[in-house]
Amino acid sequence: MAMGMDAAGGLGKDIIGAAVSRIDGPLKTTGTAHYTADFHFASMAHAVPVQSTIASGRIKRIDLSVAEKMPGVLLVLHYGNMDRLYRVVPNDFSATTSEARPPFEDERIYHWGQFVALVVGETLEQATAAARAVTVEYETKAASLKPSLSDYQGKRKSVSKRGEVDKAFSNAAVKIDQNYITPVETHNPIEMHATVAQWEGDKVTLYETSQGVWNHRLAMAQVLGLPRENVQVITKFLGSGFGGKLFPWPHSALAAVAARRIQRPVKLSLSRKMMFTNVGHRPRCEQQIKIGATAEGKLVALRQDYLNHTSFIDDIDEGCGEATPYLYSVPNLEVTSALVQRNTGTPSPMRGPGAVPGLFAMESAMDELAIALKIDPVELRLRNEPVKDEGTGQEFSSRHLKECLETGKQKFGWEKRTAAVGSMRRDGKILGWGMAAASWGAYRFGASATVELCADGRVCVRSATQDVGTGTYTVLAQVMHEKTGVPFDRIDVIIGDTNLPEGAMSGGSWATASALPAISGAAANAIKTLMQMAVSTSGSAFLDKDPATLELSQGRVHVSGQSPSTGIPFEDVVKLARLSGITGEGKTIPTSDDPKAKDLSLHSYAAQFVEVEWEPEIARLRVSRVVTVVDVGRIINLKAATNQILGAVVMGIGMGLLEQTNYEQRTGQPINGNMADYLMATCADSPRIDVTFLNHPDLALNEYGARGVGEIGLAGVAPAITAAVYHATGVRVRQIPVRIEDLLKSDVREA
Ligand code: MOS
Repeated sequence: MAMGMDAAGGLGKDIIGAAVSRIDGPLKTTGTAHYTADFHFASMAHAVPVQSTIASGRIKRIDLSVAEKMPGVLLVLHYGNMDRLYRVVPNDFSATTSEARPPFEDERIYHWGQFVALVVGETLEQATAAARAVTVEYETKAASLKPSLSDYQGKRKSVSKRGEVDKAFSNAAVKIDQNYITPVETHNPIEMHATVAQWEGDKVTLYETSQGVWNHRLAMAQVLGLPRENVQVITKFLGSGFGGKLFPWPHSALAAVAARRIQRPVKLSLSRKMMFTNVGHRPRCEQQIKIGATAEGKLVALRQDYLNHTSFIDDIDEGCGEATPYLYSVPNLEVTSALVQRNTGTPSPMRGPGAVPGLFAMESAMDELAIALKIDPVELRLRNEPVKDEGTGQEFSSRHLKECLETGKQKFGWEKRTAAVGSMRRDGKILGWGMAAASWGAYRFGASATVELCADGRVCVRSATQDVGTGTYTVLAQVMHEKTGVPFDRIDVIIGDTNLPEGAMSGGSWATASALPAISGAAANAIKTLMQMAVSTSGSAFLDKDPATLELSQGRVHVSGQSPSTGIPFEDVVKLARLSGITGEGKTIPTSDDPKAKDLSLHSYAAQFVEVEWEPEIARLRVSRVVTVVDVGRIINLKAATNQILGAVVMGIGMGLLEQTNYEQRTGQPINGNMADYLMATCADSPRIDVTFLNHPDLALNEYGARGVGEIGLAGVAPAITAAVYHATGVRVRQIPVRIEDLLKSDVREA
């Protein structure tokens, strides 16, 4: 689509790193951006799922006699009349679904809210009414719903191991041995999941809420048993995903099957309530951390044993040990994991999966160790900085955690901190200052792209990636402007459609790093052909010149070193050669296949500094200030990147103080499965947030040195909050979110 706005008109090469407003901003603020549920088609029908009211068991009988006779009802699907669906190959990341089990595969029930039938009606109201009239008789089995995982006695998997951790721990001068718990958290993007399915013959188009249209296509082709070319997936705009929209959920296949059955387009939009049961969550994690250190604060032993819950359908390992093996230097280490099945929906990645809950435990333990050692918590981290990744033995591609810590310390004013609990006061409130270090993996997916220099003077970049709301449209436009000097109002960024060249998933905060080599290479190839045309087309002002002496800037072809005004608009070259456009192709090789990158330890880093205000008289705790210093390579768009970190820090305040999904213990229904009862941080909870990017390019990822930004902003926020809470109140909270009941145990009575 054409994106109007030429704010970046004259920035040229300086556009990389500039604070550029989103090119799709006006479409969003005027309500003209089409999100999945905004797609309407003539004769489109509406599908409404029926959800299980038990957590475990099987369907004995489904009674459709009332529902099927209700006005407007077109179809009721259930396991007894469902089309044949297929599974995808387990652990094959080229085509991944969120749940291994296709919808309605059998009569078994694994969690409350599981879809047991789908009613399709002429209108949403008719389908909703009929869905309520479907009665299901169940055979109920005892459900496993206990939140606590601590009675797990089974086997554990060793995730990372070096040295002799247990021996080193028992001999250590100073020891911390504690348990940390992070709750189930539910993704709450503004835009709820939806699918609009439309068939034409044996080809289906799926309008989707997807963080990865390419994967969605391959996975759905597999699930539906179709050749991949018969499935097209379109995600033009996404109202965020946070990991919940990485891979298809069962509703996508349900919409596709329903639309095929009735031979009409079908829209299936999940309700907010369904968002709490049918499209993933961050699982509960219980972690035991043992850290041993010398009296001088040198780590000698680190053990992390974690458990996370998973569903009875899928084995989802949260990966809490993601950051543990390389964050600090420690000769003896082991990380183990195990899964505990519960009758919930299948968990899924959620912002910084693994690392974020893992760092809550590890960084909390580091804070406790600093207190035990009477060493400043920043200093403790600095004393344990590794020279290489001790988990893999690899060199770091670019690691600036020390600079994050030192810059954060200075920006926060940390030297004014007095270590004693409850010792700092301001305006009649007790202050707590806490900090944590953080990291998050970097990666580059494979991708491809084309860039077209068109005869009408437009530049079009195409790739089947998508903008999850983070600024991908704008970043791609910036690179096109940098390469051509063409203003934004003549740049078209065409993404979010599997008819385009294979593009990267928007996951792991890696879409930018993955797109850059492909689009940059495609632009370079298009420009190369343009120059060849300029020197070889009869009548060209540059006929018979060496193409290497020409350059493209401000949208004009000219002799290098001379002013662009001496040259001609690029489209004149295209037109003179009687071409409609000149296309270049580019490719990104995934880091895992890149000899220069695959043997490096690729990670982003951050330091989080948090101030809380505690008013014991009224038991009020607020996060009043956050300083975050982030090492994510080079920034491409300062405004979008800052926005990512601000949002992530606010999410961290929610994680530390508010967010948790609670399941009712008899039925397994979330008791706070709505936006009123599931508390998230709002603007009123948001403090002053100071975001600093170190901006050291990491050239192992791409020529720009961008690693990608997003998830790292959440990592480390919750443990920095609980460290600040301890500093203010003397209460160590090892199970988040922090509750008032925890804080009432404080001996610090008056400000
Ligand atoms: Mo992120 S959890 O890869 O959307």
